[in-house]
Amino acid sequence: MCRAGICGSCAMMINGRPDLACHTKTKNLPDEITLMPLPVFKLIGDLSVDSGTWFRAMNEKVQSWVHTDKPFDVNAEEETMDNQLAEEIYELERCVECGCCVAACGKANMREDFMGAVAFNRIARFMMDPRDERTGTEYFEVVGNEEGIFGCLGLLGCEDVCPKEIPLQDQLGMLRRKMGWQSIRHLFSRLLPD
Ligand code: SF4
Ligand code: SF4
Ligand code: FES
Repeated sequence: MCRAGICGSCAMMINGRPDLACHTKTKNLPDEITLMPLPVFKLIGDLSVDSGTWFRAMNEKVQSWVHTDKPFDVNAEEETMDNQLAEEIYELERCVECGCCVAACGKANMREDFMGAVAFNRIARFMMDPRDERTGTEYFEVVGNEEGIFGCLGLLGCEDVCPKEIPLQDQLGMLRRKMGWQSIRHLFSRLLPD
């Protein structure tokens, strides 16, 4: 437990709303306070949930690492990145995997294989990264489905509760546009002769 809003492990339902307990001041709450464990994740006991297993599976599902065929050269000089782009990637990297956005998500509560906004944020982060060589089609295979961005209801409960104020709405909008475009391309590639 970091008590600084950076480990994500103290997330719980505080008066019906997912939030980080270490960031919540009782003086801002009514006299009666109700604490519940986060939904969606497997309950361990009391207020503890096993978010680790969920997040590991999510990161594997979205292949949350830089994909490149470049051979690794231990002696190569570090590659530089445009400062502005590095800042934009860092903005999305601030996610602490607390699970608040998942707990607040109507779709994740209804459907256990739904990826959730945190996964969309991860994908958006790698799409921005010039070192990741995945194509639009490869991203489409991961997220262009009902478990992914096409299952999202778009009501943005996720963004409302994110304690790190990650710009989830922007990432969801970007993914929806890009994957919508990819699905049209897929459709036409099936209809058109080779
Ligand atoms: S906008 Fe999508 S990801 Fe966010 S809470 Fe709604 S269904 Fe879940
Ligand atoms: S996107 Fe926000 S709410 Fe969701 S896991 Fe990351 S920090 Fe928590
Ligand atoms: S204790 Fe680490 S985020 Fe609250």
